[in-house]
Amino acid sequence: MAVLMDGKALARKITDGMRSEVEASGLRPGLAVILVGENPASAVYVKMKERACEKLGFFSSGFRLPADVSEDELATLILRLNNDPDIHGILLQLPIPGHLNEKKMLSLILPDKDVDGFHPVNVGRLMVGDQCFVPCTPRGIMALIDEYDVELKGKRAVVIGRSNIVGKPVAMLLLERHATVTICHSRTKNLADLCREADVLIAAVGRPYFVDETFVKLGAVVVDVGVNRVDNEETAEKLFGSASPKMAKIREKGYVLCGDVNFESVEKVASLLTPVPGGVGPLTIAMLMKNTFDSAKRFAEIS
Ligand code: GUN
Repeated sequence: MAVLMDGKALARKITDGMRSEVEASGLRPGLAVILVGENPASAVYVKMKERACEKLGFFSSGFRLPADVSEDELATLILRLNNDPDIHGILLQLPIPGHLNEKKMLSLILPDKDVDGFHPVNVGRLMVGDQCFVPCTPRGIMALIDEYDVELKGKRAVVIGRSNIVGKPVAMLLLERHATVTICHSRTKNLADLCREADVLIAAVGRPYFVDETFVKLGAVVVDVGVNRVDNEETAEKLFGSASPKMAKIREKGYVLCGDVNFESVEKVASLLTPVPGGVGPLTIAMLMKNTFDSAKRFAEIS
């Protein structure tokens, strides 16, 4: 039976450690969060990020822009924040509406304030192993792996998913730590066979309960990055089985959250496994705070 990797506890430990450091520094790190449109999941994430700022005594500046905002208006806001000395981190919550050019908008963020690590300059720095803002979810995954003393050197790591937010950056970080890394995706042939070679398996596909025990070698470490909302009872019953406590939850709330990993199946074979919720999620926010604090420290050094 797998031991659970407790992301909530680690996030609390990181945040508590940072709180005293922030107080001692006398700095007031500032984070600007931009939300365009009304994607309900994004609205929840943004609120969580703002609440985390408040709890740590950071300056938090939230911008809610209408879904039909023009590129010019969004660009003007980003450029203004680039020049605002109270702001050390700028985050454009993704996804943004289709009429806006995501790459162009992310490229406008000053690389030194790009606490998400999505600007091409930071992506490049990560690729060549230079100091940079590491994207928050991948940084959280690595923190969790280190907290549980998972050896990476010479091990086989398989990442399912090739997103710019998780799959690609986490693959680079694992490579930097001397793992032999394979990135799989929707067109990969013999996916389960490849995954079964992994000592460390990172599931970031965005498909509920997709990874079951047939994907997992006995004793592997499995990190579940998925946060999937299932709101159809029939689908839920097929995924979780009629006796699952998740069925009561979906009847009560109208939806249930689950990861990319079939938890009940994989916990029988993995040595370490992250739960959803309470695994990678809380670390993403803790790392955003860390990146913002790091940025504030760097600005203080140069001013
Ligand atoms: N959307 C999903 N994850 C993220 C993230 O880490 N940062 C931003 N900006 N948008 C996201």
